[in-house]
Amino acid sequence: MKKTAVITGGTRGIGLAAARKLGSLGCSIVIFASGAQEKYQQTFDVLTGMGIDWIYVRGSLDDSDDRKRLVEEAVKRYGRIDILVNDAGVAPKERRDLLEMSEESFDRVMGINLKGTMFLTQLVAKQMIAQEKIFTLKGHIVNVGSCSAAVSSVNRGEYCISKAGVSMITTLFADRLAPEGIVVNEVRPGVIATDMTAKVKEKYDRMFAGDQFPIARWGRPEEVAEAIAFFCSDAVTYTTGNYLDVDGGFHIRRL
Ligand SMILES: NC(=O)c1ccc[n+]([C@@H]2O[C@H](COP(=O)([O-])OP(=O)(O)OC[C@H]3O[C@@H](n4cnc5c(N)ncnc54)[C@H](OP(=O)(O)O)[C@@H]3O)[C@@H](O)[C@H]2O)c1
Repeated sequence: MKKTAVITGGTRGIGLAAARKLGSLGCSIVIFASGAQEKYQQTFDVLTGMGIDWIYVRGSLDDSDDRKRLVEEAVKRYGRIDILVNDAGVAPKERRDLLEMSEESFDRVMGINLKGTMFLTQLVAKQMIAQEKIFTLKGHIVNVGSCSAAVSSVNRGEYCISKAGVSMITTLFADRLAPEGIVVNEVRPGVIATDMTAKVKEKYDRMFAGDQFPIARWGRPEEVAEAIAFFCSDAVTYTTGNYLDVDGGFHIRRL
């Protein structure tokens, strides 16, 4: 029997790499994002060409009706949810100094990155708990956090705050769901080449030329997807509430 993986933000970047990886490992994939299906049709055609069984659910993570519909459509199509990858996330539309951050930007980033992740996890956890246990565990949940959970960027504070919150979501759900046979872990990417970072390419190119990154290059979405796939695998049965940096060693403090 195939596992079903729900991947928010699975249309592009890290989420798409995770969809391709988990799909190639034999999972049925439920992709959730806010763009129109036509926009991503070529991407979906590639998944089909790889022999991956997928459906797309369009909606916004910060909308409670959309989150509910995502779970309903996944269960309607595949009968169950075994894996949840909470990948969807946004950066502020505009980088602004902390002293000038707007409430509107704060609400948008927190609504998608934090509230959306919190309440989708709550819904999916209830679904997993209600399901018959047919695999080694009842479920694997992976949150895509960020190095920004612990690193200060004063010109996009709302993003850092949201990712620090995601880190606590990992801890809380790991604790609550352990007795239910569901493990919850987190992957923390550093600087990965995706649409999200394309707008600040020059800044990061300059950083890689300096000495802040032991592995001095852009990370690839596929490299993050490997870590996500590991945390989703049946090899992970006694590890919960942990995170793995996928950041070229950026977290190492140097003297
Ligand atoms: N790239 C990096 O360097 C980096 C570093 C650390 C952490 N991360 C984290 O990794 C995750 C993926 O980032 P990425 O770089 O792959 O970003 P990306 O290329 O911009 O992709 C973001 C994905 O999220 C979806 N999304 C955006 N808003 C949404 C909403 N309201 N509801 C549902 N889906 C939504 C997007 O699709 P639509 O636009 O169609 O909705 C897209 O599929 C994010 O959580 C990000 O914070 C990235």
